[in-house]
Amino acid sequence: MNYRYFLLLIWFSCAITVQAQNTRKTENFDAGWKFFLGDEPQAKNTAFNDAKWRNLNLPHDWSIEGRFDAKNPTTQAEGGLPAGIGWYRKSFTIPASAKNKNVFIDFDGVFHNSEVWINGHYLGKRPNGYISFRYDLSKYLKFGGQNTLAVRVDNTDQPNSRWYTGSGIYRNVWLATTAKTYLTNWGTFITTPHVDEKSAEIALNVAVHQSPAINKKLAVQTVVYDAAGKLVVQKISAINNTTDTVVTVDQSLQVNNPRLWSVTDPYLYKVVVKVLENGKVVDDHTTQTGIRYFNFDADKGFSLNGKPMKILGVCMHHDQGALGTAVNIRAIERQLQILKTMGCNAIRTSHNPPAPELLDLCDKMGFLVMDEAFDMWKKKKSKFDYHQDWDQWHVKDLQDQVLRDRNHPSIFVWSIGNEIREQFDSTGISIGRELVGLVKQLDKTRPVTSALSDADPKKNFIYQSGALDLVGLNYHQEVYADFQKNYPGQKFIATENMSALATRGHYDMPSDSIRRWPKDGKTPLKNGNADFTVSAYDNVSAYWGSTHEETWKIIKKYDFLSGLFVWTGFDYIGEPTPYLWPARSSYFGIVDLAGFPKDVYYMYQSEWTNKPVLHLLPHWNWKPGQTVDVWAYYNNADEVEAFLNGKSLGIRKKNGDDLHVMWRVKYEPGILKAVSRKNGKIVLTTQVATAGEPYRIQLKADRINLKADGKDLSFITVSVLDKNGNLVPNANQLIKFKVRGSGILKAVDNGSQTDLDPFAGNEHRVFNGLGLAVIQSKIRAGSITISAAADGLQPAQISVASR
Ligand code: GAL
Repeated sequence: MNYRYFLLLIWFSCAITVQAQNTRKTENFDAGWKFFLGDEPQAKNTAFNDAKWRNLNLPHDWSIEGRFDAKNPTTQAEGGLPAGIGWYRKSFTIPASAKNKNVFIDFDGVFHNSEVWINGHYLGKRPNGYISFRYDLSKYLKFGGQNTLAVRVDNTDQPNSRWYTGSGIYRNVWLATTAKTYLTNWGTFITTPHVDEKSAEIALNVAVHQSPAINKKLAVQTVVYDAAGKLVVQKISAINNTTDTVVTVDQSLQVNNPRLWSVTDPYLYKVVVKVLENGKVVDDHTTQTGIRYFNFDADKGFSLNGKPMKILGVCMHHDQGALGTAVNIRAIERQLQILKTMGCNAIRTSHNPPAPELLDLCDKMGFLVMDEAFDMWKKKKSKFDYHQDWDQWHVKDLQDQVLRDRNHPSIFVWSIGNEIREQFDSTGISIGRELVGLVKQLDKTRPVTSALSDADPKKNFIYQSGALDLVGLNYHQEVYADFQKNYPGQKFIATENMSALATRGHYDMPSDSIRRWPKDGKTPLKNGNADFTVSAYDNVSAYWGSTHEETWKIIKKYDFLSGLFVWTGFDYIGEPTPYLWPARSSYFGIVDLAGFPKDVYYMYQSEWTNKPVLHLLPHWNWKPGQTVDVWAYYNNADEVEAFLNGKSLGIRKKNGDDLHVMWRVKYEPGILKAVSRKNGKIVLTTQVATAGEPYRIQLKADRINLKADGKDLSFITVSVLDKNGNLVPNANQLIKFKVRGSGILKAVDNGSQTDLDPFAGNEHRVFNGLGLAVIQSKIRAGSITISAAADGLQPAQISVASR
């Protein structure tokens, strides 16, 4: 050990004991805000009296509290919910002891055009509603006194989006207090440049903002821990530059026998970076890191850690259904769990930077992420969208996205935009190169793509820029087979697919002809259903897309097709193609807005997992004598035999690239049963029975133990059953809820795309037999009792615990 290293180690060991009172403090700043819906220009001033304003905790989306109305300026594209202007204020004290510190406020995202004041001083405006940003409050604070933050959010410029955005401070807010010497925001970049089974290099580039004080010795100490908290490796590096305000340090650490991060084993190491000033730790920051490598190959497609795999992705917008866009970790986690169980292994954050919590969950749960920046550049898609802010903001917004997100092991591709209009003219070349250049300056470890909608390589100017690492195609599944011929030597990814349409639990006969809606490119649909439903046999799609089976068969067939992103994993609020009002949320999801899988979920599960699947559709309540198409999705078996009331309907086997089997049946009430067999042995049996009259309500909680933190959620499925416990497939009763004890009823839904009753309130109809009640814990521990009643039905009640 050389002498200098020895001294550094001594500094470090001294530092451990004083660390607690000296390092940064990051406080969640969500509690105790005041809110006013409307404009109140005086509210920026400290003296303004907000006593009459509403009290609330963030994250908060005021649009979701409103009523669906075709007349709202957001239009049907954004779900017809209200937008407007809102003000938030928060008063808080800062201890006198923080006088020698820096105090920053971090907003994860505010939709949109936020302006922020501290004690009446204007801190700035941030138009982009999806970007995280920070202000330095230090200069304007009253240390040892009362301070006031005021935030004006302006979402009046409608329409400004093609989907529901929500309005307000809809993501978390943090208050960070650091020493004068500190690790800069997003200033630590961790990569794994060399990885194999035997060893991995963890490389760090760490930016430190140093205070001008003289006679100090600075060092950066990095400690890597494994998931069990055991120290793996550490390193300390002296900083010898005393002149620059921000200095950077490069470090390289070796991890022997690394456990690699993958979608099936999302193993995370913890990297703690500390800044030492004269041997004392003055700042520290922890990053979760996954050690992994991946590759896109023009012939072989994608591989992770050397193993070939298909990217089995879905696109997701950011709303959490009835909860709106207000970030809730449990709500996001539930969506991801439902997708993981289906076999999905990748998420595209269409078409904007996501909440940081989504990325943390993807790191932890094992999803690859395509992190997308923009839905438009200079050329607009909606009258008041981000094109207005492009010139002034796109460089900073893109840089901030990459800086914030580049340490996430889940992120494997950057997308600089979705179906950008500039692909049709030569500006696509210059802007394409500029944006890819901006990304590469900050991260060279991941490929950059753009989701292109013009699949002609000769005509697409973003492709012509030559800047993309991956050719990302939206739709155009018909040209995929010829990709290698048309794009010689290029690497492929399907950035967006299908746009298949379905209403959960609704079936139109016959099921074997494919319909493209709206055929003439016009909405509303002329030949659509009077009740605005779309059949849930996988045989309806937007005319630019395909059914789920059509595109999956192609992707599955060719190795060079690295994978796909289905549009979409879940239904989302807004964009209810192909219908006009009262349709107000999308039909594209594999899962409906309330989180209930549509049937095609099981097609994916049968293809994307090894878990045995046998799923039978439709329900079994039809008119006697009617011809009904019966479908089964299955895997791990050679054949399926269906039985109606004990009589065999015949054995079916998937032939060629079939993804389901079908029987055309003359309906009679009773029991429809299916049996899957392999080598003559039964693998699975399932059945669906004709339901009688609606008789009782059933409540089922997804989780019965909640954290008493005022945030945790239990999602309660409400089913209307007949006397024998069968789901009544067309039940639509109005259910009245009562919640008592240590929780509240946060939201209600049923997954219907046309139900205009609000998501807030104590009652909601079920739709096709199912409904959802979302219960949120209070900060007080105790039990929470939910009861549900409806005219003519036996009521139900359940309790969950909150501790
Ligand atoms: C795509 C677009 C998506 C969504 C989808 C609906 O072209 O990228 O944002 O609008 O169509 O089918």
